[in-house]
Amino acid sequence: MKIARAQNGLKGEIRVPGDKSISHRSIMFGSIAEGDTLVRGFLKSADCISTMECFRKMGIEIEEGADEEGEYLLIHGKGFHGLSKPEETLYCGNSGTTARLISGILSGQDFETVLTGDESLSRRPMKRVIEPLSSLGASIRSEKGDGRLPLIIDKGSLKGGSIEIKVASAQVKSAILLSGLYAEGETTVREPALSRNHTELMLTAFGADLTPGTKEDPLCSVRPGRTLKGLNINVPGDISSAAYFMGAALIVPGSEVCLRNVGINPTRDGILRVFTEMGGNIEIENERYESGEKTADLIVRYTPTLKGVNIGGDIIPTLIDEIPLIAVVAAAAEGETVINDAAELKVKESDRISLTVEGLNAMGAKAEKKEDGMVIEGGKALHHAVIDPGKDHRIAMSFSVAALASKDVKPVEIRDPACVGISYPDFYRDFDRLQA
Ligand code: S3P
Repeated sequence: MKIARAQNGLKGEIRVPGDKSISHRSIMFGSIAEGDTLVRGFLKSADCISTMECFRKMGIEIEEGADEEGEYLLIHGKGFHGLSKPEETLYCGNSGTTARLISGILSGQDFETVLTGDESLSRRPMKRVIEPLSSLGASIRSEKGDGRLPLIIDKGSLKGGSIEIKVASAQVKSAILLSGLYAEGETTVREPALSRNHTELMLTAFGADLTPGTKEDPLCSVRPGRTLKGLNINVPGDISSAAYFMGAALIVPGSEVCLRNVGINPTRDGILRVFTEMGGNIEIENERYESGEKTADLIVRYTPTLKGVNIGGDIIPTLIDEIPLIAVVAAAAEGETVINDAAELKVKESDRISLTVEGLNAMGAKAEKKEDGMVIEGGKALHHAVIDPGKDHRIAMSFSVAALASKDVKPVEIRDPACVGISYPDFYRDFDRLQA
């Protein structure tokens, strides 16, 4: 796909699609709850469909319908022990969230399952769930013994216990907490910094006996004994999807966009804090709560005076998926941006440190890799390049934004743009709509 520099600013108002993390969890927790869970605003992207298909293969009926309020999903939950042994392997596609969270649930079942995924997911580390779940009494192993998919999960004997994880990860934390629902005693998990807390908020709303961690004390515990009860969920817009339009509006002259109903949970709002620190013109309006999640409307305007920032430490888990985009915006800002403590980026859907730095340099920016992040020198004119996002949706969307800020008449070419379907199938429609 060829993307030309923006002639005019991005203008208008949109509602970005539903939050990916919350959408995955609504299917998983709705399936093991008793009774029906009605979900509105569900993100129908490839990753969330992978989760939906896994639970359908385990006998959960999920109706997809529409009424005067829009599309909905109706999940007919069957309780903690209502899942049935799937006839085939559970294919998680490209989705790390599916593979890791489902491992926690499957550890508590009385049947054997095999988890597989696509080429990218099959390269990603799974030891981070195999080890803690095994130490809690689960029977989980990697088929090839290499700590990667396929994973074989069988009936174990979950006792509960305390786990300390080395890297802040909502996926690992959630897998541990979900296994805790099936354990004999209490399960606790300590993270080095608080990662996204959607699991804690949502499990509590479903009725679990859970004590969430805080920013000051990221220690979370869950006790067995209470069943989950189906509920109604309104999924807020995904801040990680909204981020691309925020970034584009900040760097394209003449822009003013309004992004409606975006989730701004404090464990996800690092992007807002960083863009604000860079001097970005962002207004947050209409703050409210939807299904326990804080949401707002965001108005973002072109800011010619953006400046570089230093990012590291506890803010990293709150913006982990937005770092490639931050790097793009940093390239259009004045001064240097340094990103530290983000080694996790190397084991996402691609090695995001390498692809971001290589893409920026190909477009004429000056960026350098670090072991745990990158350094970007802002203010260099960006020009045409061919970007291969390595099938990584977030790299494709970040460089689509970079293309708009190019000073070259020759457009930027993004290879394999369809990979955006992992999290945002209508990304290019919305991207074009704001430029019309
Ligand atoms: C997610 C957690 C994050 C994030 C991913 C979604 C989740 O991963 O990168 O896109 O829904 O829990 P980690 O928890 O591994 O950092």
